[in-house]
Amino acid sequence: MKRILVTGASGLLGLNMGLQIGDSVEMIGQVNHNRLQNVPFKQLEVDLADVEKTEQMMDEVRPEVLIHCAAMANVDECESKRKLAHRINGDVPGQLAAACKRIGTYMVHISTDAVFDGNNGPYTENDLPCPINQYALTKLTGEQQVLQSNNDASVLRVNFFGWSLSGKRSLAEWFVASFRDDKQVNGFTDVQFCPMMVNDLVDVILAVAEKRLKGLYHAVGNDALSKYAFGVEIARKFGYDEAQINPKSWRDGNLAAVRSPDLRLDTQKLTSALGKRLPGLQNGLERFYNQAVEKYPEKVLDCRIS
Ligand SMILES: NC(=O)c1ccc[n+]([C@@H]2O[C@H](COP(=O)([O-])OP(=O)(O)OC[C@H]3O[C@@H](n4cnc5c(N)ncnc54)[C@H](OP(=O)(O)O)[C@@H]3O)[C@@H](O)[C@H]2O)c1
Repeated sequence: MKRILVTGASGLLGLNMGLQIGDSVEMIGQVNHNRLQNVPFKQLEVDLADVEKTEQMMDEVRPEVLIHCAAMANVDECESKRKLAHRINGDVPGQLAAACKRIGTYMVHISTDAVFDGNNGPYTENDLPCPINQYALTKLTGEQQVLQSNNDASVLRVNFFGWSLSGKRSLAEWFVASFRDDKQVNGFTDVQFCPMMVNDLVDVILAVAEKRLKGLYHAVGNDALSKYAFGVEIARKFGYDEAQINPKSWRDGNLAAVRSPDLRLDTQKLTSALGKRLPGLQNGLERFYNQAVEKYPEKVLDCRIS
C-alpha cells in the first residue's frame, strides 16, 4: 500500500492506527474537531457532514486505500442527536463508498457488533441484524449503503479497547483510571462481548486491506466475556483489587440507549479468509499493559492540542 486515507484519525481506532503505521506508508488522517500534534501523518480537517467537502477530500487525496473509522460512536449521544447520527453513521459511509468506486480506491468500512439485538449470539455474518438503539440503526444503514454502493469494499464489525486521546474513550482505560483513583465502579455482568486490543485490530484491518477482501466480516477478539469479567481481567493484569468493581446489570446504569446483552460474534469467515486465528484477549491485555509500562498512554495524550 502506498497511500492510505484514515478518517477519524483523532478517534480511538484512527489515532492508534496512525501511530502504528508511522511513516511506513504515506498516511493522511482526516480529523474534525480535534486537530492533532506530534503525529507521523498529514492531517486534513474535514467535517464529513459536509457533502461537498467530503467529495473534494476524496478527489484531492485519491488514496489507494480508505479506512473509514470516523463515526458518531457515542451510543447515548446518537439518541439525542438522531439526525446528525443518521447523516454521519448512515449516509456518509455510502457517499464515501461511491466515491471510492468512482476513483478506484479500495475501502474498509468500520462497523459494530451492536447491530444485533443480543438475544441469540454468537452471530455470524448470515444472521439478520436487529438494531435496538439509534447508534445500531445508523451503523447498520451505513454498512448497507457501503455494500450497495461498492461491491469491492469490505465492512468489518468490530469491538476494541486501547488508549485514547481523551484518556477515557475505551472501557479498558476507564477501568484503569478508576482503579488508579481508588474509585469503586460498576461492571455489567449481563453484557457479553469479544473485545480486541486496538493495535491487534489495526493489524487485522491492514491484513484485510492487503488482501483486498470484499463484503461483510466479523472482526472481534477470540474470547467472549462479560463487561464485569473484562474489568476483573484488567484489575488482575494491572495489580489492582478486583473488589473495586461492583457486579451490576446494565439496566442499573441509567443509560440513554438500551444495550444488547449478547454481542458475541462468530469470526470463522474472517479467520478463513486471512488464514489465521484472530487475536485473543490475553495477548491483547499483555500488549495493553506493556504500553502502559512504556508510557504509550502519555504519548497518545500528547497528540492532543490543548
Ligand atoms: N470503540 C469501540 O469499542 C467500538 C465498538 C464497535 C464499533 N466501533 C466503531 O469503530 C469506529 C471507530 O470508533 P472510535 O471508538 O475510534 O471512535 P471515536 O474515538 O469516538 O472517534 C470518532 C472519530 O470520528 C470523527 N468524527 C465524528 N464526527 C465527525 C464528522 N462530522 N466529521 C468528521 N469526522 C467526525 C471524530 O473526529 P474529531 O474527534 O476530530 O471530532 C473522531 O476522529 C466507529 O465506526 C465506531 O462506530 C467502535
